[in-house]
Amino acid sequence: MSKYTTEVFDSAIDGSKFVANKIKALIEKNNAEGKKTVLGLATGSTPVKMYKELIRMHNEEGLSFANVVTFNLDEYYPMEKNSEHSYWYFMHENLFNHIDVKPENINIPLGNLPQEEVDQHCLDYEAKIDAEGGLDIQILGIGRTGHIGFNEPGSELDSVTRQVTLAQITIDDAAPGFGGVENVPAKAITMGVASVLKARCIYLMAYGENKAQIVSDTLTNDITDQVPATYLQKHSNTVFVLDTEASSLLPA
Ligand code: GLP
Repeated sequence: MSKYTTEVFDSAIDGSKFVANKIKALIEKNNAEGKKTVLGLATGSTPVKMYKELIRMHNEEGLSFANVVTFNLDEYYPMEKNSEHSYWYFMHENLFNHIDVKPENINIPLGNLPQEEVDQHCLDYEAKIDAEGGLDIQILGIGRTGHIGFNEPGSELDSVTRQVTLAQITIDDAAPGFGGVENVPAKAITMGVASVLKARCIYLMAYGENKAQIVSDTLTNDITDQVPATYLQKHSNTVFVLDTEASSLLPA
């Protein structure tokens, strides 16, 4: 039986504020108790408004990220950290440079390691999430293939952090930002489906009508590796945060 919930908002802004408020509440509770908060973070255009709201909360409401540890879902491979295309760069531009998170508490898979060091890096990344006590909250977007992180169709339920090959649709979607398909890396390093499902709470955000079909496929299909986001139906505490457009193909 599926235990997820859906929250539909009039706008992406309202959905983003809803998620930011959940994050804020948890950080403040943990800060008051002297505990760390462990956040799993996502890239893509979808979470940007939510990150803006967290930055506003930091600036205007004194929300401190000094006790927050972050793990990003994924990174292209090969990819240099300081490339404008890297998720490392994206996260610093859109969030980390504007809050008081400690650099040593930021974890993003490394896209610049030699191939022979990648497998060990993936094992270490997975172990580090566990060593921090696991993810309190995982933020997700969704790709047109139904991928979460870079878990493309065919990803297995028990998959963990690993190197993957990107689906052609994903490469096509990324192409404009890279100035052409030929410039998009063919591979990535991503947390696995199992890594994501271990999070105690998951918020998947999807906004706009171009997400309506995959949102419908995710929530109305049986669980299938062909739409990896359907694995979220197995999770006990996942909230799909949608705007009206993204929810438009869901059954009434
Ligand atoms: C990329 C990222 C995903 C993200 C997806 C959708 O593939 N690896 O984590 O969910 O893009 O991006 P957008 O939010 O821009 O639609």
